[in-house]
Amino acid sequence: MLRRLHSEQPESFAFTSANQQWAEAQITKYPEGREASAVIPLLWRAQEQEGWLSRPAIESVADMLGMAYIRVLEVASFYFMFQLQPVGSVAHIQVCGTTSCMICGAEDLIAVCREKITAKPHALSADGKLSWEEVECLGSCTNAPMAQIGKDYYEDLTAENFGKIIDDLVAGKVPTPGPQNGRYAAEPLKGLTSLAEHDADKPQYNASVELAMDLGDTVKRIDGTEVPILTPWLGKDGKATATKAAPKPPKAPAPAKPAVKQAAEAKAEIKEDQPETLTGARDGKADDLKLLKGVGPKLEQTLNELGFYHYDQIAVWTPEQVAWVDARLTFKGRIERDGWIEQAAKLAAGEETEFAKRAKEDGTYED
Ligand code: FES
Repeated sequence: MLRRLHSEQPESFAFTSANQQWAEAQITKYPEGREASAVIPLLWRAQEQEGWLSRPAIESVADMLGMAYIRVLEVASFYFMFQLQPVGSVAHIQVCGTTSCMICGAEDLIAVCREKITAKPHALSADGKLSWEEVECLGSCTNAPMAQIGKDYYEDLTAENFGKIIDDLVAGKVPTPGPQNGRYAAEPLKGLTSLAEHDADKPQYNASVELAMDLGDTVKRIDGTEVPILTPWLGKDGKATATKAAPKPPKAPAPAKPAVKQAAEAKAEIKEDQPETLTGARDGKADDLKLLKGVGPKLEQTLNELGFYHYDQIAVWTPEQVAWVDARLTFKGRIERDGWIEQAAKLAAGEETEFAKRAKEDGTYED
């Protein structure tokens, strides 16, 4: 199967602030110069947040790790676990089509997907809520046929109970994962043949299902607030240290760099010059910097903390001043790549930019 970037891409990508903190903590697992080792966890978290990997997400991860964009795209396009096209807003369903499942009825499940979701895999249902694909063995062969939905396994499926699960998802319910035929886990279909005396003491669900039920988030997108960020490798005061270590600028170990990165690095050689900053917004009313393409809520907060609140401040940055600001941002080269100065000049003059207009219309920025 040809795996390439989707033809329609969002304007930008930003981790939620908790996911950003998590991602920065992951990078501290690796020695200086080896930050690229965090590429799969960061891509995976981006996918857990958005459902799929867009080009801006891939580039953001590359910027965080000091990697060439093509290197990160290579990883994202190599592993089939990464979705390179939009997936259903409620769930993406992965039906196992390998031997055990195929023998036990995977084709019937795929027929249900074609009927209830959409005829072709990797496409969205008419309401945009679901998508599906056939995948290779998911390691649950004793409970064939099965499907993974979100993070959980639904096992011992039939066309009927699988169809009901899909209906429940569309209705906003989170169906109970695990075996759907009354089996507890992967014991013989006719019941236990040993250790049967402990059978009565077992909890209601097996451990995997119990965890899923406790979390209640089988298909939830991950925003980073679900569990505390654990950084035991940083010692007892891991959280504080991780936060402190996180802003460390990433190193650039990759030998090959895209033209845009080379240009950004050439700029970095320009002598830095601090632009004029403010201690607060004039008249207490800051401009909405999120109307600049490439600036999300977190970046806006960073700019405010650096002393920038207004479009007219950004519009007059010189190359030396851009270098000063760039050196203080986690994502290098973004000012130039997204054309902040040109955008800011237009907005300061009371004009509209394409991005600002669209963002206001469809509410893709947070006010
Ligand atoms: S063959 Fe389907 S889970 Fe292994």
